Amino acid sequence: MKILVATDKPFAPVAVEGIRNEIEAAGHQLALLEKYGNKETLLKAVADADALIIRSDVIDEEVMAAAPRLRIVVRAGAGYDNVDLKAATAHGICVMNTPGQNANAVAELAMGLMVMAARNMYDGTSGTELRGKTLGIHAYGNVGRNVARIARGFGMKIQAYDAFPAAIEAMKQDGVTPVATTDDLYSTSNVVSIHIPATPETVRSIGQHLIGLLPKGAILVNTARREVIDEDGLISVLDARPDLKYVTDIRPAQEADIQAKAPGRYFATPKKMGAQTAEANINAGIAAARQIVTYFRDGCERFRVNP
Ligand code: 3PG
Repeated sequence: MKILVATDKPFAPVAVEGIRNEIEAAGHQLALLEKYGNKETLLKAVADADALIIRSDVIDEEVMAAAPRLRIVVRAGAGYDNVDLKAATAHGICVMNTPGQNANAVAELAMGLMVMAARNMYDGTSGTELRGKTLGIHAYGNVGRNVARIARGFGMKIQAYDAFPAAIEAMKQDGVTPVATTDDLYSTSNVVSIHIPATPETVRSIGQHLIGLLPKGAILVNTARREVIDEDGLISVLDARPDLKYVTDIRPAQEADIQAKAPGRYFATPKKMGAQTAEANINAGIAAARQIVTYFRDGCERFRVNP
């Protein structure tokens, strides 16, 4: 089988070697398409691929139609909003993710952004400490759980909101206080760290109402997805509340407006970097390769995300 690693944002070379080893040891062939830059190149490359390993690369109906042999797509990472699941099911393609494999990397970046905001973006002025502050974790999945583990070392008080019973159980196991509603979370947390996926229910769900509930001097950290923020709402609250800060790993669509309304209170990484570590690339990339190998060998569909 030909397994194409199609990553516009490449994995660390050491991770690619690990993926190659897994694939070749199982008798398959690896093809590598990195930094391809445009869709036409991707469309050509998928023409004879039986499997794809991707990151945030958009795999839509057009890509699937151009890949008649394609049987499985593994998103090396957590969020799979970049894959058209309906189209995949219609084409008989299995889609998987690799949950948890890059969670520590994203959590470490969330903490780094928190420190940066608390220290006024390292502008030389006197900032604040995280110790003793209340951290609100918005969604207690793999990343949220890692954030809680690290934040405990900072001496923060940790609370979280999640609708899923298994996540609430995990909070209890971890000594994290569950709160009943997102209103409660935002109105009582000095720092809120967002870890919700982008779904039809969550897109633009964090806006004027929730952000406006944040206490004085609060920090909002987004290492999840740009789409979950209602940017008009964010801009109007940042404008009205010069005490609030927004730090993000996903550059907002209306960045110029945010910069204008919140100078010194806003920061975005130049490129989504949460999972951009050698360790996360190795973990997620090798997990993806193994999932493909066992899928072709045993038909194993663990971590399948499309119906
Ligand atoms: C994820 O959903 O796993 C993260 O957002 C990482 O995405 P990336 O692989 O594009 O860096």
